[in-house]
Amino acid sequence: MMNVLVTGGAGFIGRWVVKYLLKGGVNVWVIDNLSTGRKDNIAEFERYPEFKFVEGDILDRDLLKKIFNLNFKVCLHLAAAVNVQDSIDNPEKNFEVNLKGTFNILEEAKRKGTKVILISTCMVYKRADDNRPIDENHPLLPLSPYAATKIASEELVLSYHHAYRLPVAIVRPFNTYGPFQRIDNEGGVIPVFINRSFKGETLYIYGDGNQTRDFLYVEDCARAIVKIALSNDISGEVINIGTGRDISINDLALLIAGDSSRIAHIPHIHPQSEILKLVCDYSKARRLLDWEPEVSLIEGIDKTKRWIKNQPKVKANV
Ligand SMILES: NC(=O)c1ccc[n+]([C@@H]2O[C@H](COP(=O)([O-])OP(=O)(O)OC[C@H]3O[C@@H](n4cnc5c(N)ncnc54)[C@H](O)[C@@H]3O)[C@@H](O)[C@H]2O)c1
Repeated sequence: MMNVLVTGGAGFIGRWVVKYLLKGGVNVWVIDNLSTGRKDNIAEFERYPEFKFVEGDILDRDLLKKIFNLNFKVCLHLAAAVNVQDSIDNPEKNFEVNLKGTFNILEEAKRKGTKVILISTCMVYKRADDNRPIDENHPLLPLSPYAATKIASEELVLSYHHAYRLPVAIVRPFNTYGPFQRIDNEGGVIPVFINRSFKGETLYIYGDGNQTRDFLYVEDCARAIVKIALSNDISGEVINIGTGRDISINDLALLIAGDSSRIAHIPHIHPQSEILKLVCDYSKARRLLDWEPEVSLIEGIDKTKRWIKNQPKVKANV
C-alpha cells in the first residue's frame, strides 16, 4: 500500500484530506503540532491501522528526517500559520512556519524523491478589476505577509521542480468552509456567523461588507486536493479550486442571520490587506482533474449549521 504524509492533518481542511485518503486505501501519516489543529478533528481515524499521528513541528528537522525515512510517495503540505491578521501583527512567525517550514519539507522530499503538493491560497491574487473570475495566470499581489509567504513558498516548490525534477503541484483553494472549522473568532466567517447567530449575538462585518468571496465547501476542496495528489500525470502545475460564484459578506450575513437588525459594520482592522473581490475560474481543475464543486453554498451552510449545532458548547444553547 502507498504511504502518504499530510502536514497539518489535524487542522480543518487537513482532516478532510485524511478522510478522503483513507477512503482511497492508502497509509496516511499526519504530522501536526496542534497549534490550531485539534486531536478531536482526527479522533474518528484512530481506529484505522492505516492511520498514524505524530505530534510534532515541521520546523523540527530531525523529526522530519525520521518521518521521511518511512518513504512516502506523496507529501500533502497543509501545515501553515493561516491567520492573515496575525501575519500582519507577527510576520516572523509566518515567515518561519510557512516559508522555512516549506523549505524543510522540500529538502526531505528532495532527499527521498517524494512528490510535494503545496496547499497555497487564493489570497495570493491581486483583485480582479474587470469582475472576471480569476484564473491561474491572473497577477499576484502580496497584500499581507501571509500572502507573501505563500507566494514565496510556491516559488520555492516550483524551483525544486525545475532544479531537481521533483514532482510537485500547487493548489490555490478559494475561501473554504464547513464542519470542523473553528467556530470561535479565529475561525472562518461562515462558522463564526453561524455560531453567533445560534447564540442570538450580533454578526459583525469588517468594513462596508461589499467585499466578495468565493466559498468552497470543504469536502469539495479535499476531494480536489486528493485527486491532484494521487494523479500520476499532474506535475509542475498550479491549480485553482473554487466554485466560480461569489457572494458579498453583507449578503452572506443576511443569509445566515435572516434579519438585518442583527448585523453591524465595524471598522476593518487592516483595510489595506483586504481583497475586495474574489471569484475563482476553476476551468483548469475541471480540465485536468475532471473535478466540479458539488455542494452549493446553501447546502454547505446547512451542513455546517448541523455540525455546529451538535458541538457540546453550542448544543446547550440552541
Ligand atoms: N481555510 C481556508 O479558507 C483556506 C483557503 C485556502 C488555503 N488554505 C490553506 O490550507 C491549509 C490548511 O488551512 P486550514 O484552514 O485547515 O487551517 P488550520 O489552522 O485548521 O490548519 C493548519 C494546521 O497546521 C498545523 N500547524 C501549524 N503550524 C505547524 C507547524 N509548525 N508544524 C506542524 N503543524 C503545524 C495546525 O496545528 C493545523 O492543524 C493552510 O496551508 C492554509 O493556508 C486555507
